[in-house]
Amino acid sequence: VAELPKFEADVMIIGSGIAGLYTAIKAAENRRVLLITKKALLESNTKYAQGGIAAVTSAEDAPAYHIQDTLIAGAGLCEPEAVRALVHEGPGGVQELIRLGTAFDRENGELSLTQEGAHSHRRILHANGDATGYEIVRALSEKVADHPAIEVWNEHMVIDLLTEQGECIGALVQKPNGERLYVTANATILCSGGGGQLYRYTTNPDIATGDGVAMAYRAGAAVRDMEFIQFHPTALCHPGAPRFLISEAVRGEGAVLRNIHGERFMEQYDSRQELAPRDIVARAIVHEMERTQAAFVYLDITHEPSERIKQRFPTIYRTCLSFDLDITADWIPIAPAAHYMMGGIQTNLHGESTLARLFACGEVSSTGVHGANRLASNSLSEAVVFGSRIVERLHSLPPLAGHTLISYNDNRVDSLASSIMEQQLKLQETMVHYVGVRRNGEGLQVALDQLRGQMSVFSAVLTSREEIEFANLLTCGLLVTDGALLREESRGAHYRDDFPTADDGVWRKHVQQRREQGIT
Ligand code: SIN
Repeated sequence: VAELPKFEADVMIIGSGIAGLYTAIKAAENRRVLLITKKALLESNTKYAQGGIAAVTSAEDAPAYHIQDTLIAGAGLCEPEAVRALVHEGPGGVQELIRLGTAFDRENGELSLTQEGAHSHRRILHANGDATGYEIVRALSEKVADHPAIEVWNEHMVIDLLTEQGECIGALVQKPNGERLYVTANATILCSGGGGQLYRYTTNPDIATGDGVAMAYRAGAAVRDMEFIQFHPTALCHPGAPRFLISEAVRGEGAVLRNIHGERFMEQYDSRQELAPRDIVARAIVHEMERTQAAFVYLDITHEPSERIKQRFPTIYRTCLSFDLDITADWIPIAPAAHYMMGGIQTNLHGESTLARLFACGEVSSTGVHGANRLASNSLSEAVVFGSRIVERLHSLPPLAGHTLISYNDNRVDSLASSIMEQQLKLQETMVHYVGVRRNGEGLQVALDQLRGQMSVFSAVLTSREEIEFANLLTCGLLVTDGALLREESRGAHYRDDFPTADDGVWRKHVQQRREQGIT
């Protein structure tokens, strides 16, 4: 048992996307905040969010419509109270983002609103055309960096949560130079995002390795709905290019999908066509790719005037052009890619996990807002709404009592560094093959066995960031696969060939996973 240095924090926030930055700013109104990020303030999944943030701000729209759209997309698994909180408190959150310096796009002084799939009204606010997430993290990280009550630790990797007597008392943290320390905190708030790196093809950056879910699960907190992984229908699929997101707002502005023969096909799958919920569009695309034996389909926005495309989607235009695709004239080759984790650390309406003093906010959490399929652009609103709710809850949290901190085994060994890339590719291949857009019991069992085999390699405490991230990904992979195997039906983003319909009688409920019930 190692004797490590200790640091006492008041509120510790882990992660620096919209959830971490916003919650830090709100908490710092009357607390001291330590914000830890494994990279830097400006690097997070939020930074890459394009389409925008959903909130009711126009006279034509109403909360009842936004609630209904969210519930329909969520396919029977949303928690209605959480959805009501999101919809009613979202507009206030947007105003707060504006007050904090976010410049959303405007037309004649009014907030400019776009359309996305499964929204009945135009209610998506955006910034710099298609760089909404970047504008939000720019504004919030400037506030965080200047805030006297917020201390930021960049390039620090949180290895595990510390628990004592049934509560979370902080975390074991690794500094950039490899030294470790204990951080104790009155409240620990996980805002560490999702796990897109579970899949070979993802719109997420390489830091999205499911760290928060894995740590919370290891610490004994309940996680739920992990089988619901959202595949974004339209990620760029072009030789040499990354799976760059082509925003749903492109379809919202009228773009159509065509198979490799140039034929439109969405009508055969859903009357809402290109603007059906994401799970439906993603499956239709995969089906069409299989039918035509192609690795992609096309997204076509060439009907729009060229200048309008460049002004409305400057990032997408520039990025595609750097790969010799001129989206004002060329159809864009696209395929679905892993995009968002609907499940996560189970929380109540105040962001509290089932482990005392541990909170979760943003993609890492399962508040119940997204159900089986997240409505586009609800995630940024969820982060601000539930970030505020967590901060309100902090007032009633008693100070941390004395603790001993003797229980963490920090014996390190040199282990897997040389083969870690190989191991991660193997994991990603397994997930794409067996736990992707379409699944079945036989394949899921194969995946579970393969992932368990990989997990058995980890008997020692890990050293490098890559090893820790990979171990976290493996835990998440097991949780996703186990949940998918348990759920013998198809619902939202979870589709099983062997159980192709929803079974409301049995499965209109969450799959909850806890370590003491043992899946690994
Ligand atoms: C997009 O722009 O299509 C992404 C928006 C989202 O995932 O909510």
